Order: sequence, then C-alpha cells, then structure tokens
Amino acid sequence: MQFQTVAAPDGVQLDALIVPVFKDGSAASGTPHADRETAEWVAREQGSPKIFSTSTHLRQRDGGGATRLVVVAAGKREEFDIQRGWEVVSAGVRALWSSTAKTIGVCLETQALPAAEAIQAAVEGVHFAMWRPDTHRTIDDEHPLPPVASVVLITGDAPVDAAAAITTGDAVGEAVNWARSLAIEPANLMTPTHIAAQATELAKSAGLQIEVIEEDQAREMGMNSYLSVAHGSHEDAKFIVLRYQGRGGDGYDLALVGKGITFDSGGISLKPGADMHLMKYDMSGAAAVLASAGAIANLGLKINLIAVAPCTENLPGGHATKPGDVFTSLSGKTVEVINTDAEGRLVLIDGVTYAQRQGAARIVDVATLTGAIAVALGRHYAGVFGRPDGFVESIRRAGALSGERMWPMPLSDEYRDDIRSEIADIKNSAGREGGAMFGAAFVEAGVDPEIEWAHIDIAGVAWYDSDRTFAPKGPQGSAVRTLVELASSIASRQR
Ligand code: BES
Ligand code: MN
Ligand code: ZN
Repeated sequence: MQFQTVAAPDGVQLDALIVPVFKDGSAASGTPHADRETAEWVAREQGSPKIFSTSTHLRQRDGGGATRLVVVAAGKREEFDIQRGWEVVSAGVRALWSSTAKTIGVCLETQALPAAEAIQAAVEGVHFAMWRPDTHRTIDDEHPLPPVASVVLITGDAPVDAAAAITTGDAVGEAVNWARSLAIEPANLMTPTHIAAQATELAKSAGLQIEVIEEDQAREMGMNSYLSVAHGSHEDAKFIVLRYQGRGGDGYDLALVGKGITFDSGGISLKPGADMHLMKYDMSGAAAVLASAGAIANLGLKINLIAVAPCTENLPGGHATKPGDVFTSLSGKTVEVINTDAEGRLVLIDGVTYAQRQGAARIVDVATLTGAIAVALGRHYAGVFGRPDGFVESIRRAGALSGERMWPMPLSDEYRDDIRSEIADIKNSAGREGGAMFGAAFVEAGVDPEIEWAHIDIAGVAWYDSDRTFAPKGPQGSAVRTLVELASSIASRQR
C-alpha cells in the first residue's frame, strides 16, 4: 500500500472517503470543504451513533463515477487521542470490506492531535484493518478485503512533515499484523520450530542477527525452569534470540522477552476443555517481541536491542513436569512447580536472566501470563508491573503515545513473600487472589535488583473474543506499538 499526504485531495479520484465526525457534529479538521457539509449532515441524520459505528453513502463524483462516503463516529473531540486515531481509521476501512475501493482518502484530525501523530495513527489503522484471519479457508470468500492500493491522508491546512510518520506507521502497522499472523495460526503449524523459521526470515529481511538455542544447549546453560515446561511435549523447544546493534558499542539498552507457549494445555494441571483451543495464542508475547525487534531494525533506531523468545508447548505426558517438582532456574534460584498451568513464568524467569547476562540495562517482558489480569482490568487495558516506578511509567507513557492502554499494577514485598516456597526458593503459584501479581513477582526473581525491569501482562487484550467495530475477533498484536515507541524514546534520550 502506498501512503501520501495532501492538504486537500483536489483532482485525486477517490473511490472512498473516510470522514470521522465527532459527537458535537463536526467533521475531522482535515475534511475538505466540499465534503464537510454532507458528512456532517449524514452524521446528524444518524442521531448519536455508538463510537466507531460507520455509515456508508454513495456520492456522484464530479468527473463521473461515484465515491463512497464513509462517516465514522469518532466520539468526543476532547477525548480524541492516538488510540482513537487508529481505531477510527480502522473502523472506516473495515466498512469498505467487500467493496472494490482501490484509492481511498482519509480525513485526519490535526487539531486534537499533532499532524505527525495523526498521520502515523492513520497509517497503522489502515494496516490493522487490512488483515484477515482466515488463512486456511478454501471455500469462497463472501466478505473479501478491498483491493486498497493507495491511501491519501488529508491534513487540511496543518503544516506537516509526513515522511517519518508514514515510515514509522508502515513499520509498526506491518509488525502488528506480523504478530497477529503468528498468533492466529494453529498450534500444529505454529510450533516452536516454525516460530524460529519465521524469526529467521524476519531477521534476514530486517538485518538482525539470530541465534536459536536448542534444548541440549539450554540444558548445558542451566535453563532448567524453561526446559521443565517442554518435558511433556514431543515438539522441540526453541529459545530464540534476535540481536540488533543500532547504536553500536557494547551492551543492550533494552531487552524484550516474550512468552512463547505455542500451546498451553495446562500440562498435568490440565485446563478444562472450554476454549482450550484458544491457547494457541499463548505465544503472543513472543510474537510481539520478535515483531517489535523487526520494526525497530527496519526503522534503524539508534539503540542496541536484544529480543528473547523462549518457545515451547505445555502438554501432559509421561515425561511431563508434575505438580510439586523442583528445578534450578538459570539464575540459580530453585523453583517449585505447584501448578503446571503456571508455565509462562517458568519460561520467562530464564528468559530475563539470560537477557540480563547478555548485558541488558533494561528488560521488558511481555506475556499472556494470567487469567487474573483480565479479572482485574477486563479486556481494555494491559497490566504493567515493574521497578522502579519511573520505568513502569515510561511503559505506560509509551502505550499512551502509541495508542495502547497500559495500566500500572502493584508489586511489593508482600507479594514477593507470598511466592516463597517451603521446599525451594520460590513457587509458581500462590492461589487465585492477586494471581497477576504473583506471576509478576515470580518473573522478577530472575532479574537482579539494579536492572530496570517491567512486565506487561497482555492476557486480557491479546485476543478479542468477539468483533469490535474497529477490530475483528482474534489476535490484536498487543504490545508491539508500545515496545517500538519505548525503543524510540530510549533512542532519542541517548542522542
Ligand atoms: N496462558 C495462561 C493465561 C491465560 C488465560 C492467557 C486466559 C489468556 C487467556 C497461563 O499460562 C495460565 O494458565 N495461568 C494460570 C495461572 C495459575 C495456574 C496460577 C491462570 O491464569 O489461571
Ligand atoms: Mn498456563
Ligand atoms: Zn500460558
């Protein structure tokens, strides 16, 4: 897809024009004069529609033919932010599914948002809407994607420097969809071996170094907590490492560690059957960190980055880890496995220790770690834990600046005490209440106190159980936007 910005689309033949209209009845600031009246009239006729709802109308075009006018309810103008920015555009493009629109115009709001942010958000919104999940369907497609080839972003009078915003939006939008494409795949295909193959391809195209640590080597290194999860599976576990030296010199300014459970049956602590098939997306954290590393390298950010994705299945079997088993993690700390379904923290604790030993100054791990985070925050915010508080705040801010909601969660010594084991150093489960904090405290135990560390629990947001107007049911590519924004803010602070 080709993106360009114009002040007004004079002379461009648009097959569709997407116009966000706010609750106060006013169209987005970039809306051309000729279209504003109609769009605002259409919006008035609808009454007060739910945010993101769309209404499509055919309009005669001056030079012949017709344009689809897509009016999107954009909510309150004073609440319009970057997240709304991409969601509104995604809702608009989704309304064009099944159409034949090739060249589309998007009216930007450049008063509530700085133009560059509005542009980047819109580019990401278009990418997000142009992704569909049915990779294995062979029967006729009754609701195809539109053949969008060219997107004209209409800024109105706002002065813009669009090139960087478009480049970033492209890279981030593609990375988000890359992560979604991994998460949607069934576990028989998206095995640890296949993730490693995908990561290898990504590394080649983005210019990253890749290393895949095999089980034998992981055993020699002492990653027994990670390996304990793989014991019940016949699939080879793969510990994937991507490296990127955008700054040059030694060490890593940032490490990203992602949970890569390609299927989480719960192991011997078997999950109930309902919705177990969805546990194919338990590798969403791994997909997010690999995708982000690709985008960061493609954008040439001046940062040294290491991305780590410990990947394995979690299955029951004759060799599977049993509740009560004890292992020595890479950090040297011993872990008691109370519940084999709390497997994410077992792979992550070795992932973060590995990242630290590679010379990372800051570590962020991303995981579909606990059902408890969805109990706490519902399905609208990811939870962020970590230390110091300032580092957690920088993640929350990166989320706000990139269009993802992140909410700070507590982590204090009481929780750290709760996960002390009677037989070993720590245990992987300490009961239902406060479950999200126990997961965080467990992973934290793999990181030395002087290293900045944060943990993003995306279990509530990585997969939508039903369609939303701006997003289809299924994988959302959660945390990619935030991680790229975080890397970019660290890179600019270093300059
Ligand atoms: N992968 C799950 C968490 C999860 C649940 C992700 C639902 C997405 C949707 C994780 O491995 C898990 O099973 N966590 C347990 C932990 C418990 C056994 C301490 C949970 O949340 O119940
Ligand atoms: Mn589990
Ligand atoms: Zn899991």
